[in-house]
Amino acid sequence: MEGYIDIHSHIIPGVDDGARNMEEALLMLAAAYREGIRSIIATPHVSYRRDEDRYRKLESAFLELKERAEKEIPELKLYLGSEINYSQDTVYGLCKKEIPTLAGTSYILVEFQPFCEYRYIKGGIQSLIMGGYKPVIAHVERYHRLRGEVEMFEELISMGAYLQSNAMSITGGAGRESKKLTKRLLQKGLLHFIATDSHNVLSRPPDIAKCLTATARKYGEKYAKELSMHNADKLLRDRYI
Ligand SMILES: [Fe+2]
Repeated sequence: MEGYIDIHSHIIPGVDDGARNMEEALLMLAAAYREGIRSIIATPHVSYRRDEDRYRKLESAFLELKERAEKEIPELKLYLGSEINYSQDTVYGLCKKEIPTLAGTSYILVEFQPFCEYRYIKGGIQSLIMGGYKPVIAHVERYHRLRGEVEMFEELISMGAYLQSNAMSITGGAGRESKKLTKRLLQKGLLHFIATDSHNVLSRPPDIAKCLTATARKYGEKYAKELSMHNADKLLRDRYI
């Protein structure tokens, strides 16, 4: 295993609010490479509305990017995934194979509305697990409005969920509340992944190195490597973390 593995990236051009075109996607790839990232799971936004064409469109845009990327930076591996905006239809869409899982594994990246109630998140996680999937909750620090947040995350983890934070939130670029929550989760060893959630090269670039250096200094090299490499490596092999 070599380099960081970024499990959250809006790098596929022209499919969501991430890279606008191939040129921008290639700039993002080069920036990610400079940060030390060697594998990226592309995770475009998906809101399942029985749009059967969505998967096909994502897949063809992804394959086009992958082909270009292999020529430009052959050391960087790309995989297809998605960031699922959870709804009642999500499990159905996954079972019908109309929503990409992370790199074809049973892991999925899922987000909920930041203002939704805990019992809705818990119910969603439960249904995904019952459906046979391993849910990774995207940018978990956005749920800092949940009362008793850390205990709730402990419960979600005990059910079988995994937690991902954005590198930018850990370094403070997403506000004080998000930073405070990531700190608490790191202190308790409750995070599983740090990823970039990059959308472009300027306002939301694929920065991760600075965050990981600070994480290693405060919480240990071993944990920083788990969050940026080892857990994601297990994910790519579809093994339990
Ligand atoms: Fe995202």
